[in-house]
Amino acid sequence: MNTTNVIVKTSKEYVVHVGPGLMNACGKILAKLIKPCKVGIISDSNVAPLYLNTVSESLSSAGFTSVSFAFPAGEESKNVSTISSIWEFLAENEITRSDCLLALGGGVVGDITGFAAASFLRGIPFIQVPTSLLAAVDSSVGGKTAIDLKAGKNLAGAFLQPLTVICDTNAISTLPQKFLVDGTAEVIKYGILGNKEILKIYEDLSVPYTYENIKDILPEIITESVKMKADFVIRDEFDNGDRKFLNLGHTIGHSIEQCANFKVSHGYGVAAGMALIAKAGEKLGHTEPGTYNYICNLLNKVGLPTGIPDNLSFTKEELLAPAAKDKKRNGKKLTLVMPERKDKCSLLEINADEFSNYIIL
Ligand code: GLY
Repeated sequence: MNTTNVIVKTSKEYVVHVGPGLMNACGKILAKLIKPCKVGIISDSNVAPLYLNTVSESLSSAGFTSVSFAFPAGEESKNVSTISSIWEFLAENEITRSDCLLALGGGVVGDITGFAAASFLRGIPFIQVPTSLLAAVDSSVGGKTAIDLKAGKNLAGAFLQPLTVICDTNAISTLPQKFLVDGTAEVIKYGILGNKEILKIYEDLSVPYTYENIKDILPEIITESVKMKADFVIRDEFDNGDRKFLNLGHTIGHSIEQCANFKVSHGYGVAAGMALIAKAGEKLGHTEPGTYNYICNLLNKVGLPTGIPDNLSFTKEELLAPAAKDKKRNGKKLTLVMPERKDKCSLLEINADEFSNYIIL
């Protein structure tokens, strides 16, 4: 099997395994890390019917037992009520600190399972088995776990690095096209943050952007993305410095998501946010001319928006309101990730009340 391993050298080092068919090897990989135990598999109503059997059979053939819990798919489930049901489920099934959890699904499953692992019995190990592109290239790596509160996304959470990440690239085949495109915003983000291999792949892309057309290069796309993510996480595990670079496109992107009541998904918001910040950067002299067009071309090729999506219209004032509450705001300051050119960004600290100058629609 053609697998690549990326080592994430955080306070607790772990390996991200990337390759086709890896879900069948979950048990074997886990057996190298912990003694046979009970694995609490947490998944959702979309993913469990597709992959739960494969994962539990793989665990069982390596000597593990498993119990499973699936909640209704969607961001609406990433809340206090679901985490409370998961805690009760783990307690009823007598999961102990010698056992572990396994997140089988996309970003919502990974975030909530990670938070369950960080909080149940004051912390038990967990592994990530991402099944969406967004989870594979972003949320499964780096140890951010969370649930949403009424006041906003990801407001209650913890840092807990997984024991390992097992990314079966074949899982992307069952992902609806919209979510393949959605996850690609984070991949292109890594290109603009400095990954030339990723930029080359998307510059050279000359076919419609579908799973069938990219499946042969998908392991490389995911591996390069994970390497970039790991690089930022290693430098700043607890998000106090360089990890902020990963927020490229996110400040305006989050505003768009919130103004649209989350009818615009994360990647689409981030794509629009990357284009708009490059547009403002050029106008304000921070960004090399041509960068905005370059970024728009890549986003257009894969079907991502380069501004407020066509069916929506927000005023600048509406977009400013969520950003003012952004949890990443440091007092009266806001850190923007500014493209300097097509493959380099810098952090720009501004006064929060200057932010309106950076929204040029
Ligand atoms: N998704 C951004 C981070 O992990 O820091």
